[in-house]
Amino acid sequence: MSAVTTDAPTTTTGPVVTAKGLTRHYEVGGGLFGKPKTVRALSDLDFELTPGRTLAVVGESGCGKSTLARVVTLIEEPTRGELEISGTNATPDAWKSLRSKVQIVFQDPYGSLNPRQRIGQILMEPLLINRPKMPHSEREEKAREMLRLVGLRPEHFDRYPHMFSGGQRQRIAIGRALMLEPEVLVLDEPVSALDVSIQSSVLNLLIDLQERMQLAYLFISHDLSVVRHVADEVKVMYLGRAVETGPKDMIFENPQHPYTKALLSATPRADPEAAKERIKLEGELPSPLAVPPGCAFAPRCWKAQEKCRAARPLLDGAVQKSACFFPEGEGKPSAEAPES
Ligand SMILES: Nc1ncnc2c1ncn2[C@@H]1O[C@H](COP(=O)(O)OP(=O)(O)OP(=O)(O)O)[C@@H](O)[C@H]1O
Ligand SMILES: [Mg+2]
Repeated sequence: MSAVTTDAPTTTTGPVVTAKGLTRHYEVGGGLFGKPKTVRALSDLDFELTPGRTLAVVGESGCGKSTLARVVTLIEEPTRGELEISGTNATPDAWKSLRSKVQIVFQDPYGSLNPRQRIGQILMEPLLINRPKMPHSEREEKAREMLRLVGLRPEHFDRYPHMFSGGQRQRIAIGRALMLEPEVLVLDEPVSALDVSIQSSVLNLLIDLQERMQLAYLFISHDLSVVRHVADEVKVMYLGRAVETGPKDMIFENPQHPYTKALLSATPRADPEAAKERIKLEGELPSPLAVPPGCAFAPRCWKAQEKCRAARPLLDGAVQKSACFFPEGEGKPSAEAPES
């Protein structure tokens, strides 16, 4: 498939990324006298990414979203767990051959583009590095085509990043990420730095490109109204673990985990109904250096009971899954996770 020039077929295919028990911990401290501590940034994440579909990952600051992005884009190795990309086990010796299949777009469209390069150079650079034998004329042709695909004009080819607005820069960053015709795009808060007025035009561009190229998206955001616009599946994270996951409509209409419910109620634009009964989360988000025992959300949960502090609920369920002993709505209580 040429991502730049042809429309992809709309056949249903299996996942392009499969993650099982994906875990990334960091050892910190441990100077001369101190004992090193473990930051549990990401623990036991299971998910699949499928061509043409979007998995959105939501949660408060520090819950491990960018850590997940770095592990999936092969910037960091998982501490534990399996990651399969395009049928290949993504161990470090396979990284080189897999890297071009998974590309990332970051939040900050100002910091992510080299101010000294013209837009044309920025777009051609991934080809120059990864396809050095490609003739210059072909590289240029592909870059000009990409400029058009991301909604910019031909004369922008010779301009510098500072001559563009935030929204236009993010279009350039998206174009650059697509130059190697990846199968997966990891979008880490791609519209969070943009004015609300231009967020939806960038989101619509992403939706259009996904359809055209059958891209699998891992879409990271703390903003549920954005997630509602783009997601097929949603995964809600709390302190490095998934607490709820399932099809978007189920998560938005019948949240089972109290944390999901609290997040939704705090986002009136995402859920006008829930806004009427706004839930205020008590207490600070604990540090992933000291994850509370049992259910990590228990110290802030209005429904927590003794059991919640003693055992950890497993992410359980058929289609919609949640990790809670006392779920909302029709959710079934989770089983206990084995002690680790
Ligand atoms: N290299 C590292 N060494 C130690 N701790 C780290 C490292 N990278 C991330 N962390 C910690 O891991 C946790 C998760 O960080 P991460 O950046 O993944 O969160 P996030 O969900 O992306 O947050 P935000 O919404 O603020 O971007 C944080 O507590 C962070 O301080
Ligand atoms: Mg982040």
